[in-house]
This record gives sequence, C-alpha cells and structure tokens, in this order.
Amino acid sequence: MADHPKSVFVLTGAGISAESGLGTFRDAGGIWATFDPMTLATPEAFARDPETVQAFYNARRQNLVAAEPNPAHRALARLEAGLAARGGSLTLVTQNIDDLHERAGHREVLHMHGELLKARCASCEAVVEARADLSTADSCGTCGRTGGMRPHVVWFGEIPFHLDAIEERLMAADLFVAIGTSGAVYPAAGLVGAARQAGIATREINLEPSDNAYLFDEADYGRASEAVPRWVEAMLGG
Ligand code: OAD
Repeated sequence: MADHPKSVFVLTGAGISAESGLGTFRDAGGIWATFDPMTLATPEAFARDPETVQAFYNARRQNLVAAEPNPAHRALARLEAGLAARGGSLTLVTQNIDDLHERAGHREVLHMHGELLKARCASCEAVVEARADLSTADSCGTCGRTGGMRPHVVWFGEIPFHLDAIEERLMAADLFVAIGTSGAVYPAAGLVGAARQAGIATREINLEPSDNAYLFDEADYGRASEAVPRWVEAMLGG
C-alpha cells in the first residue's frame, strides 16, 4: 500500500451497517437467506405483485429510520474530512440503500444501488423523498399516475447508478478499499479487479475473506466497528 495515499476510493457493503442492526444479505440468517430476491427485488416482481414488494421495502425502511450510524460510518466521515484537509480526497461508493453514511456526517456518497428513503415514479422517473410507507394507491406528484411509485433502489436486472463517475474516480485513486461486502454482486464486485489491473493498491476490511479475497494486497478481518476506525486512525495519523 502507498504510504500516504492522497486519493482513496472506498466501496462499502451491507457489512458496514450490520452492527447498526440492518441485515446483511448472504450471511446465515441474512435477507436473501430468508426471502427470495426474485419475488421481491426485480422489476417483474413489482409488476406482478406490487403490494408484496412494497411491504418488504416498507419494513426495511422502518428499520432504517430507527437505526443509527456506528463507529465505522463515523470513521469514514472523519477520513473524508481529514483527507480533504491535507489536499487529498475520498470517493465513497456504497452498495447500501441506507443513509447511515450521510447521517454520520459524510458529505458525498455515491449510492450505486439507490436509496431506500427515496421513491421513483416508474412512468416519468421523478424522484422524491420517501420516509413513510409506500403504497400502490400513491400517485406521482409530477405526472399524476397512480400505482407506479416504487422504491428508488436498483433491482436485479437493472443497471446500477453512477457507473461512469465510479470508473472515473476509481482510475484516479491510489488506494482501493472494500469494506463489508461479500464480493458476490457485479459490477461492484469487479471494481477490485479493475483497480488491480490499473496498478492501484487494494485493501479489504471484512468479517471474513470475501469471494474476491485473493485479489487484495492487504486484508483486515474483523468487525467493521473496530477495524474501520483502526484503519482510519492509521491513515490520518501516518
Ligand atoms: P452481503 O450480505 O453479500 O455481504 C456482507 C459481507 O459483510 C459479508 O462478507 C460478511 O462477512 C460481512 N460482514 C457481516 N457483518 C460484518 C461486520 N460486523 N463487520 C464487517 N463485515 C461484516 O452484502 P453486500 O456485499 O453488500 O443488492 O451485497 C451486495 C448486494 O447484494 C447488495 O447491495 C444487494 C444484494 O443483493 C441489491 O439489492 C441490488
């Protein structure tokens, strides 16, 4: 790893929010171990059974509103400010649809899988804040159509957001760090390989080795609430 990286690119996944009480997907007892994503997280599922899809995301939204950021989210916000103060930068790309990075004080977050606290009209694409339950009776304030207000999240078969900005920022980085992600879902899972090919140093912070563990130069296995603050203090203190 470079001694004093100036341009750091961090990718986070569900593991960083696990200690805030939000479920991960692929661990034992995880969300996709309990629920079938094909009936809940695809455009076809929403077209077939919108009430069931809304109920699933309404329950997740209620959990999120009651959750708090943990020391890992707060440490990354300190890193963003600390790197900026020394003329560097942090790009934070998250696969998470929660807002815990923002609530920890992070200024810029690229949500590649969307945001649970927003709704989007399936007809006209208007995006609005959504902190309360969504229902099939909701109508769009922009186009007026009823029944198409869906969570502003990326479902299986849909293209993630911000892909051009993500590639551009990654290629400008001198350190890539993946935190709390199993490395199972593309294109996010491909970022470490792209970083490596471009000669960028890579580090993994996760509870256990991810599917891509062999692609990282360095790894720190432990709980995000401990491992992330430890790494951030080393970065800012060094
Ligand atoms: P996963 O559930 O696949 O992986 C979470 C990772 O976090 C696992 O490798 C765990 O070992 C690790 N983990 C669990 N608790 C942790 C802790 N306290 N500290 C550190 N690490 C911990 O979640 P993601 O990789 O984020 O997409 O999943 C990627 C995407 O798959 C999600 O964004 C979602 C899902 O389908 C969509 O819904 C489109």
